[in-house]
Amino acid sequence: MVDQRSSRVLPFFFFFFLFYFFVLLGPTFEQQLSSQLEFRALFELRSSLGLRGKEWPRKTDPCLWNGVVCEDGRVVSLNISGFRRTRLGRQNPQFSVNGLANLTLLRSFNASNFLLPGTIPEWFGHRLNSLRVLDLRSCSIYGSLPYSLGNLTNLTGLYLSRNNLSGSIPSSFTNLKNLSFFDLSSNFLSGSIPLEIGTLSRLQALNLSSNNLSGSIPAILGDLGALADLDLSFNSFSGSVPPELRGLRSLKKLLIGNNLLSGSLPDNLFSNPSSLETIVLNRNSFNGGIPSVVWSAPGLRFLDVSGNNFTGQLPNSSLSDNATVDRVLNMSGNLFYGGLSTVLRQFGSVDLSGNYFQGGVPDYVVVNASLDSNCLQNLRNQRNLSDCESFYAERGQNFDAPSPAPSPAAERETSKKSNRRTIILAAVLGGVGLILLLAILLVLVLVCLRKRGDTTQRGVGVGPVPGSSSPPPAATINYSSVGDAFTYLQLLQATSDFSDANLIKNGHSGDLFRGVLESGIPVVIKRIDLRSVKKEAHLVELDFFGKASHTRFVPFLGHCLENDNEKFLVYKYMPNGDLSSSLYKKNNTEDDSLQSLDWITRLKIALGAAEGLSYLHHECNPPLVHRDVQASSILLDDKFEVRLGSLSEFCTQEGDIHQSKITRLLRLPQSSEQGASGTPTAVCAYDVYCFGKVLLELVTGKLGISASSDAQAKEWLDQTVPYISIYDKELVTKIVDPSLIVDDDLLEEVWAMAVVARSCLNPKPSRRPPMRYILKALENPLKVVREENSGSARLRTTSSRGSWNAALFGSWRSSSDITVIPAVSSTKVEGGSGLKHSGTTGSQGSGQNGGGGEHSSSYRRHSREIFPEPSSVQDVERPDQD
Ligand SMILES: *[C@@H]1O[C@H](CO)[C@@H](O)[C@H](O)[C@H]1NC(C)=O
Ligand SMILES: *[C@@H]1O[C@H](CO)[C@@H](O)[C@H](O)[C@H]1NC(C)=O
Ligand SMILES: *[C@@H]1O[C@H](CO)[C@@H](O)[C@H](O)[C@H]1NC(C)=O
Ligand SMILES: *[C@@H]1O[C@H](CO)[C@@H](O)[C@H](O)[C@H]1NC(C)=O
Ligand SMILES: *[C@@H]1O[C@H](CO)[C@@H](O)[C@H](O)[C@H]1NC(C)=O
Ligand SMILES: *[C@@H]1O[C@H](CO)[C@@H](O)[C@H](O)[C@H]1NC(C)=O
Ligand SMILES: *[C@@H]1O[C@H](CO)[C@@H](O)[C@H](O)[C@H]1NC(C)=O
Ligand SMILES: *[C@@H]1O[C@H](CO)[C@@H](O)[C@H](O)[C@H]1NC(C)=O
Ligand SMILES: *[C@@H]1O[C@H](CO)[C@@H](O)[C@H](O)[C@H]1NC(C)=O
Ligand SMILES: *[C@@H]1O[C@H](CO)[C@@H](O)[C@H](O)[C@H]1NC(C)=O
Repeated sequence: MVDQRSSRVLPFFFFFFLFYFFVLLGPTFEQQLSSQLEFRALFELRSSLGLRGKEWPRKTDPCLWNGVVCEDGRVVSLNISGFRRTRLGRQNPQFSVNGLANLTLLRSFNASNFLLPGTIPEWFGHRLNSLRVLDLRSCSIYGSLPYSLGNLTNLTGLYLSRNNLSGSIPSSFTNLKNLSFFDLSSNFLSGSIPLEIGTLSRLQALNLSSNNLSGSIPAILGDLGALADLDLSFNSFSGSVPPELRGLRSLKKLLIGNNLLSGSLPDNLFSNPSSLETIVLNRNSFNGGIPSVVWSAPGLRFLDVSGNNFTGQLPNSSLSDNATVDRVLNMSGNLFYGGLSTVLRQFGSVDLSGNYFQGGVPDYVVVNASLDSNCLQNLRNQRNLSDCESFYAERGQNFDAPSPAPSPAAERETSKKSNRRTIILAAVLGGVGLILLLAILLVLVLVCLRKRGDTTQRGVGVGPVPGSSSPPPAATINYSSVGDAFTYLQLLQATSDFSDANLIKNGHSGDLFRGVLESGIPVVIKRIDLRSVKKEAHLVELDFFGKASHTRFVPFLGHCLENDNEKFLVYKYMPNGDLSSSLYKKNNTEDDSLQSLDWITRLKIALGAAEGLSYLHHECNPPLVHRDVQASSILLDDKFEVRLGSLSEFCTQEGDIHQSKITRLLRLPQSSEQGASGTPTAVCAYDVYCFGKVLLELVTGKLGISASSDAQAKEWLDQTVPYISIYDKELVTKIVDPSLIVDDDLLEEVWAMAVVARSCLNPKPSRRPPMRYILKALENPLKVVREENSGSARLRTTSSRGSWNAALFGSWRSSSDITVIPAVSSTKVEGGSGLKHSGTTGSQGSGQNGGGGEHSSSYRRHSREIFPEPSSVQDVERPDQD
């Protein structure tokens, strides 16, 4: 019927429109609907939905109808939002939109607030392929969501809120990769959030509020870096808030109130506080504190944490004072306590009722603030005193009872009681503390004695040292300031699920994988399996990067601590690997000497490593000991600049003088030179020894020496060191790496490095030079050998200590004690090093005390008390072989 009539009136329409468009509208000609099929489809829609002639007049071209948009004569957008139906249509409204099926270029369909009682047809997913926006809000739709909707991959906005939809969210929805706005709120959906939702990387708004959804909040949501609005409120979600949500770097609105959520919120939950606008956590069972950044989030307008078990004190304001009147704060019904603070200045509406705040009400708190049911002074409707007192007593916090007490007698009674309680508590704590102290002392003594007992030929220690490598308790490390937090998923992606192909090596502190971050940055990821590695190894390293920052250490990018048994540390990738592999490469191609690490590079590497260690030993306070100095710890960037790695062993030197004295008191005779076994000792001299082996490795090309302390390596050292003599340059050629091409000038440098190495390898830790002298020596290698040679005749006499080797072999006598306390010596050494001013004057060394020997009798006496006076000639001429 429709077809017949329309074909009869068409010619008339045609001429009318020709006139209309050409004469009156001209350029809008292309608006005219050109597809017969679509023409028919629209008329079918018009009758099936009962649309009125007012909006869609029968005698007008459909492209001019209200809410119809055409392009090139085809319908691309339909908006019937808020339309009213004809009387007939109102009587029996249906979800009958079959006409849509032939509008194949339709990009947008908006029927919000238009009654469509019925189910979404399955064919939507097969026919409306071009659809980008589907808005069916408040249409009284029921039934479940068709699985086929997942086919509409062009969709960017899907709005189905305020209907009666039931069933679960089909997993096919996760195919909608272009989806930015996803609103299923206010329905009767059940089940849990499909995990694959984490792949909808363009999602900006996800609204699932007011449904019957359950299960936990998937950690994978944290992958949605573009997500600004997340609303999961009024459901039955349970469990805790996953720390991965930290990945939501664009988060503006987080609404998860009125669920069954529990646990505490990770303090670093909000990685980008500057974007925050709305946080609603109300009516859950959260405990713990509120992430501190919310108080300083500049754009926060609405914060509702009411109806939980949150606790903690109000911080003071860190924002500027321009009170933002429209800000809302609701903390009611929690366990907050302490005094009201200036942070309340930032809010124009404040509800603190039902907490345990105490003290007076400052005048910056807004007049209409709700403060009922607290422990505040001079205010009505507060908790009774005993509630308040027992609350504060349970938490060991001070409660200042209001001074004008309503009932003085009862008041005194309770305060006396609490006084007594305080005294008892103090006594008990004091006693426990004393016992703990004694226990610690005992353990210390036992550890020392045991180390004394089993000495091995590691031969590098200074004697017993209490194991002090354990990191500070996790709580004192502020992870957020130490690199970025990566999600496990990010790391999985970066390393192709930690595939074997990406494994670099199984290091002693963890497995190293290469990978590429999403941003394209190549990284190395250390996987630390806490079941096989010393507990908290990762914390040691985090602690290190929190303390030390210097270009000589491997750039640390971040960490991932979310898994219980596996922790991950992420570093920048070093293109040239480590020194051991560079030397190995060289040795593999021995015939091709061009590829061998040339001497200039080797010297540069030695210098770089010395710089890093010197920083640790002399610029950190207290001094830090690396404890894993070896070729494989010396990483090399693209320019062969040294970046020290392998920092999981580091610890602070036993710099405490008292402790050293205790250590020395306990030291048995003859044992001081034997060294400790087991864990490397925590003294800088240990690093120096290991560095000596690295230097020797550079000189000789002998692989693996620095990595090993076994008998074979020791034997090799014992055989090699005698070839290093300050008096005989030619002798060193017998041990120099045969693949090194060195002329006579360079040989002098090689010789110098060997001499430095030998001084580092002194079996007596106390006679090894401090790192800063080693650095000076490597900076001026020729001075090491030339000036020494010119004065070599005098070396055999005791007055020779004024020459360079006083710094390397001699000045330790005055400085070895001092190196423990950098403040005494480090600055003075800068200007007048023993090397620069070497010669007969002998005025160098550690500042006032002089390193020369002659001028430092008092210091030497002090030294001798602790270490036996060495015979320097012997030391230089042959290594101790005890
Ligand atoms: C949709 O149509 C309604 C009613 O005509 C109108 O108020 C509204 O602005 C339209 N919306 C859009 C996005 O075109
Ligand atoms: C869509 O067009 C086809 C012809 O191509 C027609 O057979 C069918 O009835 C039309 N469907 C609707 C709902 O108009
Ligand atoms: C649909 O129309 C309503 C009413 O005009 C409007 O508020 C809404 O923004 C439209 N939906 C979309 C996705 O544009
Ligand atoms: C997306 O829309 C375009 C036309 O707008 C269409 O050609 C294409 O097939 C659609 N993609 C899918 C996956 O349907
Ligand atoms: C759409 O989804 C259905 C499942 O609902 C599937 O069978 C079909 O192959 C998909 N593709 C198209 C183009 O309809
Ligand atoms: C998603 O959108 C981009 C442009 O924003 C488009 O190039 C791409 O084809 C879309 N993907 C699909 C599956 O439609
Ligand atoms: C989510 O939807 C509900 C109801 O449909 C609405 O009140 C709420 O404002 C929406 N949330 C966000 C963040 O837009
Ligand atoms: C707070 O903790 C108490 C005691 O554990 C519990 O009884 C109460 O239900 C909790 N309140 C909320 C809102 O979770
Ligand atoms: C604060 O939250 C509580 C409980 O969620 C509610 O009863 C109260 O009305 C809220 N206060 C304000 C000022 O909105
Ligand atoms: C806030 O500042 C006041 C006064 O400076 C101080 O007494 C109070 O302890 C501070 N509160 C906190 C939580 O730091």
